[in-house]
Amino acid sequence: MRIDIITVQPEMMNGPLTCSIIKRAREKGLVDIFIHDLRDYTTDPHKRVDDYAFGFDAGMVLQCDPIFRCIEALKMEREYDEIIFTAPDGEQFTQHEANRLSLMKNIIILCGHYKGVDQRVRDTLITKEISIGDYVLTGGEMAAAIITDAMVRVIPGAIGDEQSALSDSFQDNLLAPPVYTRPSEYRGMKVPEILLSGNEKAVRDWEQEVAFERTERLRPDLLQ
Ligand code: ADE
Repeated sequence: MRIDIITVQPEMMNGPLTCSIIKRAREKGLVDIFIHDLRDYTTDPHKRVDDYAFGFDAGMVLQCDPIFRCIEALKMEREYDEIIFTAPDGEQFTQHEANRLSLMKNIIILCGHYKGVDQRVRDTLITKEISIGDYVLTGGEMAAAIITDAMVRVIPGAIGDEQSALSDSFQDNLLAPPVYTRPSEYRGMKVPEILLSGNEKAVRDWEQEVAFERTERLRPDLLQ
């Protein structure tokens, strides 16, 4: 899989995309991630990529030209399955969407910034608009990092124990059951007896039951 991320804050992307599972997935060749600085695509002598919004509201808007140039240059090289724009008014990001995107070959993520991007970019270049939640971030970089992380960790082979991505919360619309490790008793707090029983079926039934109970209590909307 190849992910091209277009941003005006390339330095913000480095930390989250060079650690842990993403780092290992990149090293294993499961995913190639390229960060593009939008300023490299402007013809403005001062490297400006934004301008004042038409109308009477304050705020800066990313201009069409650098974005069209950047995305067109990428599209000349290969076909893209999705061109994603991160925005608070996009479709709510879910595990289901992360799984779907993880099966794609080539993806572009355009990070929104300032007040937004010129609507003509959204109307003509973007195939999918994604929000990571009902709150407004300063820019789309962290949203792009979150989307990338959620996609990459479900690529087969990205996680050592393949089972563990499948048993994450949300994979079956249930919250994950609680987990424990040694010691089996700590400051008088005991691990549920069943987990020490060695009876796999009983443990799996218990986990399922607890997962269902937690989901019903904490996120009943997932069960609808
Ligand atoms: N950019 C600003 N806020 C955002 C959000 N909630 N989701 C995705 N991109 C954003």
